[in-house]
Formats: sequence, structure tokens, C-alpha cells
Amino acid sequence: MATINVGLLGLGTVGSGVAKILIEEAELIGQKLGYNLRLAKVCVRNASSARNYSPPSDLITTNPDEIVGNPNIPIVVELLGGLEPARSLVLKALASGQHVVTANKALLAIHGREIFQKATEVSREIKFEAAVAGAIPVIRVLKEGLTANRIQSVFGILNGTTNHILTRMTQNGLTFQDALSEAQKSGYAEADPTNDVEGFDAAHKLALLTALAYGTLPQIADFHVEGVTNLEPDDIAAAQEFGYVIKLLASSSFSPTDNRLEIRLHPAMLPKNSLMAGVNGVMNAVMIRGHACGDIFLSGAGAGMMPTASAVMGDIIEASRDLLPGAAPQVPSLGWKTLQSWSIKPQAEARLSYFLRLTVVDKPGVLSAISGVLGRHNISIAQVIQKGFDPNRNGVTLIILTHEAIEKDLLAALAETDKLDALTGPTRLIRVENQI
Ligand SMILES: NC(=O)c1ccc[n+]([C@@H]2O[C@H](COP(=O)([O-])OP(=O)(O)OC[C@H]3O[C@@H](n4cnc5c(N)ncnc54)[C@H](OP(=O)(O)O)[C@@H]3O)[C@@H](O)[C@H]2O)c1
Repeated sequence: MATINVGLLGLGTVGSGVAKILIEEAELIGQKLGYNLRLAKVCVRNASSARNYSPPSDLITTNPDEIVGNPNIPIVVELLGGLEPARSLVLKALASGQHVVTANKALLAIHGREIFQKATEVSREIKFEAAVAGAIPVIRVLKEGLTANRIQSVFGILNGTTNHILTRMTQNGLTFQDALSEAQKSGYAEADPTNDVEGFDAAHKLALLTALAYGTLPQIADFHVEGVTNLEPDDIAAAQEFGYVIKLLASSSFSPTDNRLEIRLHPAMLPKNSLMAGVNGVMNAVMIRGHACGDIFLSGAGAGMMPTASAVMGDIIEASRDLLPGAAPQVPSLGWKTLQSWSIKPQAEARLSYFLRLTVVDKPGVLSAISGVLGRHNISIAQVIQKGFDPNRNGVTLIILTHEAIEKDLLAALAETDKLDALTGPTRLIRVENQI
């Protein structure tokens, strides 16, 4: 049987999983493919570090040039993480005629234009199934299975850390800080959780899903990104009273009326009987709405050694097929031969329903003053709940659910209500997603 060599850059959480599968499942993979995949070399920073899985020591090097640019290794798998040296090594591998597989969403979201352009120039592929939603093969679904669809929307829960935190807050009433500390102790959150809890990790993945769905790779500065750090148990409890669950939701939609993309990543209230609302713990999920396929819902492990390695292996196998004599023409890395340049609708123009939580003094006329301001800004109220006096906030809590409104109108109204003497604290705003 023929053998195709694979070189691995990185032997951390994901790299160890990939090395373990390449070595331990070599026979199974050979039986399925009819040729062998062989782990030829693994590059690490420190050759003597303890590993989750240790391949034979003669495979280990600290010199990436033994892999990148090596004519005997046609497939390079980048699992270093970070931007450099990952970017330079990926570009060099492509320029040397090697196919590249990576799980590095930050690298592709930030330097994707340069990297995808280089791959096209040299007729090589960059595959990144593991960069979005871990084990879930959503990239393959968007790139191949749904090619004939006009994608209307893509929704996702794309970060397991925040989903775990929100699940604990919802099911056990924990505060954000307590849920985060617990997640850190159990290994579901990093010591510095900023990238996850501020939404950047999920935003990188959303940028990549947008590129696959619509052929335009946005920068994350181009759309609204808001994490979960400000959520309070009272928000979660109030959402439940209205029949909603709060999730960190990624969404990307195409508006055919004005030919613009609507992209956003923020905590959202989802109807509690929706499939997305039932995705709990560290699980990820993606829902794709296409004009022909209707709604497709995919769910599974979004991270971890073996689930992520499973997705990386799928890419390695696909890249290896492209190397066989008589291989079919390659699918472009982003699934679009001709990239598009759609503009992005500013968040201020979004039209959504909103959940507002206000703390006000307990006296007559306050509700009518607030509803008067909202009304003057074209915000109509769908439901109101008034709670009893809360000594911690020195006021009563007023929860308002609005009908759909334009976001800039709502923000203008809140700027006005915030100045009312009747308010004793800042107003909380959470967007509602009913289209899911
Ligand atoms: N962890 C997950 O569940 C997960 C899920 C989806 C995607 N990803 C993505 O997968 C990638 C890898 O993540 P990970 O969690 O496996 O990372 P990790 O555990 O930190 O491992 C990184 C590996 O790269 C090596 N490395 C880093 N810089 C290097 C350099 N300059 N030269 C040589 N080797 C270097 C490290 O070597 P030493 O071991 O010697 O330090 C280590 O083996 C990231 O892009 C991440 O975003 C991870």
C-alpha cells in the first residue's frame, strides 16, 4: 500500500490526540482508505515536556524546518496555536506546495485573507474543520453538502466554556464569578479566560462560518461582539419567567432586501423549547437555514483532545485524497471560487426584540414615564413584570419585553430613561432571538 507522510506542528492537547489516532488507528485508517497515513515528524517547543500522548522519541524535533518545506511530507498540520510562528509556518508550507490543516481559528480570522489568498495562488488547500465547533463537521456541511443552497442564516453556540458557565448559572443559580471559578477548577476554563468570556473565541469562529456561508470573511471589529461577563443571576431568572434561556449566540444572516450581512455575537434570550436552548454544558451547536435544505441542526463536543483530533483527522484524510493520482479538483478552502464582498449592516440598524431590566423607585407614575420615553422612540412594549422592593438595589425591578424595534431607537430611549430620577441603577439590555 502507498504511504502518505504527515508532519505535525504541536503536540499539546489537540496535537497529542492527532498523534495518538495516527499511530494507534493506522491499521483501521489504512483499511478504510486503501493507503497508509504515516506520522513522519512532530515539532514541539520543549522536547522533554510531559505529554498526554507520547509518540516515539525519534519522531520529535524542535526544528519546524524538518517538516515545513520538507518534500517528503506533503501534509502539514499546524496545532501550535497563536499567531506567530503559526502564520509564517503556514504561509511557508503553502509556498512549498504542502497542504495545510489547522485548528487555529484566531490565525484564520485575523490573517485569513493573506493565508487563503496564498493557498489559492499556489493551488493548495488550507483545511480547518477543527477551528469551528470542534468535532462537529460543520465546515464540510457548508462547503459541500449545502453548496446549492442560498444560506439564509447560521446560528451557533460556539464556545464550550461560556456555555458551561451559562448552564451552571441557569440550572444552579450560580453567579458568573462562581461559575467561572468552578469551570477553571474543573479544566473547562483557562486561567486567563478573557478570550472565551469576552466572546473573542466565538467571534473568530463566527467570522469563519460567515466566510463559508456567504463568501465574505469579516474582521471581528466589523460586527457586534459582546461576552457574558455582565450577566447576573437575575437576568437568567427573569428570562426563564418569560419562557427564555440565555445563551451566548453567534448569528450571521443575509438580508436579501438590502444585500447586506447581519453578523453578531452576544448573549441572547432563546425560546426555551428551541433546540439551541437545550444545548448545555461544554457542548457546541450550529443551526444552518438554507433556502432549499430548510433548518439543519448539528450538535457535539466543541473542544477537547480527542473530539478536536477527530475533526483534524477528517481534514488530514481529505487532504491525502487530493494527493492521489487522478484526484478530483480541489474544493476551494472557503468553498467559494469567487469570493464576495458583502457589506455588514451596523448593529445600530438591527431590528430585534429586547429584554430590559430597570431598577426604579417605588412610586406612582414611574412606569408611565418610562413607557412614554419608549413610545416617543418607537419602542412598543410587549410585556411588563414589576417585582417587589429589592433592598440590595434600593428599588423595585421592572422587566420589560419590547416588540421588535430598531436598535438605535432603543439605545436613544435608554439614554433618556437613564436620566430619569426614578431610576436607581443602570438598565440591563439583552437581545431576544425568536427566529431560532
Ligand atoms: N484544545 C482544544 O480543545 C482546541 C479545540 C479546538 C481548536 N483548538 C486549537 O488548536 C490549536 C492547538 O491548541 P492546543 O490546545 O492543542 O494547544 P496547546 O496544548 O497549548 O499545545 C500547543 C503545542 O504547540 C507547541 N508549540 C507552541 N509554540 C511552538 C513553537 N514556537 N515551536 C514549536 N512548538 C510550539 C507546544 O510545544 P510544547 O508542548 O513543547 O510547549 C505544544 O505542544 C490552537 O490553535 C487552538 O485554538 C484547540
